[in-house]
Amino acid sequence: MNAPEALKPATATPSHVMNTYGRLPFALSHGRGCRVWDTEGREYLDALGGIAVNTLGHAHPKLVPALQEQIGKLIHCSNYYQAPLQEQLATTLCELSGLSNAFFCNSGLEANEAALKIARKFGHDKGIDRPEIIVYEKAFHGRSIATLSATGNPKVQAGFGPLVEGFVRVPLNDAAAIAEVANTRPNVVAVFLEVIQGEGGVNPATVDYLQAVRRLCDENDWLLMLDEVQCGIGRTGKWFAHQWAGIRPDVMPLAKGLGSGVPVGAVVCGPRAAHVLGPGNHGTTFGGNPLAMRAGVETLRIMQEDGLLHNAATVGAALKAGLARELGGVAGVVDLRGQGLMIGLELGRPCGELLGRAAEAGLLISVTAERVIRLVPPLILSLAEAERVVAILAPLVRDFLATPPKA
Ligand SMILES: Cc1ncc(COP(=O)(O)O)c(C=O)c1O
Repeated sequence: MNAPEALKPATATPSHVMNTYGRLPFALSHGRGCRVWDTEGREYLDALGGIAVNTLGHAHPKLVPALQEQIGKLIHCSNYYQAPLQEQLATTLCELSGLSNAFFCNSGLEANEAALKIARKFGHDKGIDRPEIIVYEKAFHGRSIATLSATGNPKVQAGFGPLVEGFVRVPLNDAAAIAEVANTRPNVVAVFLEVIQGEGGVNPATVDYLQAVRRLCDENDWLLMLDEVQCGIGRTGKWFAHQWAGIRPDVMPLAKGLGSGVPVGAVVCGPRAAHVLGPGNHGTTFGGNPLAMRAGVETLRIMQEDGLLHNAATVGAALKAGLARELGGVAGVVDLRGQGLMIGLELGRPCGELLGRAAEAGLLISVTAERVIRLVPPLILSLAEAERVVAILAPLVRDFLATPPKA
């Protein structure tokens, strides 16, 4: 990542933090709504939202006192005891999704690990000793050994073999490819996909494809497992992105936006999957702790109270329209896609350096799949802020594309 000179730290002190991220050279100190400030007092408009996490933006006036109250009462107590806040959050998630039971954990990969375990045990319970799960090219499901094996990105997998076996990979939106698997692989037990691939470049599964996969799952007694870690929790303008296709999954991993910044993951299941795991099959120390559950309960409550699904849909549409208006037809702009406040702008060449340039211009964004500018801002983004994102980003993209790449 090439940071502009102005953002380079004055002195480089040796770090004791393991070097696993390419970081921009500034630290954020506080935020309010969709604005954040760094330790030098520079202000940024946040179109990244902590990578689709800060649903309610920063320091939300309704969330902060609720979390403060919870911290003063009980942060953690273990899963040895009854868990009323887990019941409350599970009930809401089931009402919103039409599913029936939830298991709580701490992150997206953990939710996906639980989903993979459910799929395998579902297979074992019906006598399939070596169950297989259909996964996708360009998918991203996390960085544990099992979830990186399910991920369809060789860069994420490089250096970590041997990978976990039992995955069959197909291209997204190719109904013939998955039908072929159905005809040739008797050990398949589940299909596992993101409704909109996030890290893979904001690639939506089409409504037709999702409906076809749901039908295949029903015909073959497979579980439909939809990873909504990034695209769920209102981001597309419905509670869950699959609801645009009028289908229901059997298993739905969630995380990111669910706690509006407090780490929380969940796997929500329908009746075919909800009772596959029993006591002793799965667990986690921190999962479902009262602080995380309260963050989930309050996030969903505030989203409902403040009409954030509608906001995500309308402001997202305006943001996309603004980008289309300013950048449509510009040579080097390949595609503009996504739904609600999950938008990808694909350029014709790698554009990681735009991260630093955007930050210098006061805008936080991300670049994924090397050449896709991804916008996943808080769902409270206003129309004026959406226009500001366009006003900052469009000239940067135009300048970038007008300058030939360094040899
Ligand atoms: C679709 C999807 N699944 C899973 C994950 C992994 O989540 P986490 O980073 O919380 O483990 C991510 C993270 O980007 C994701 O986008």
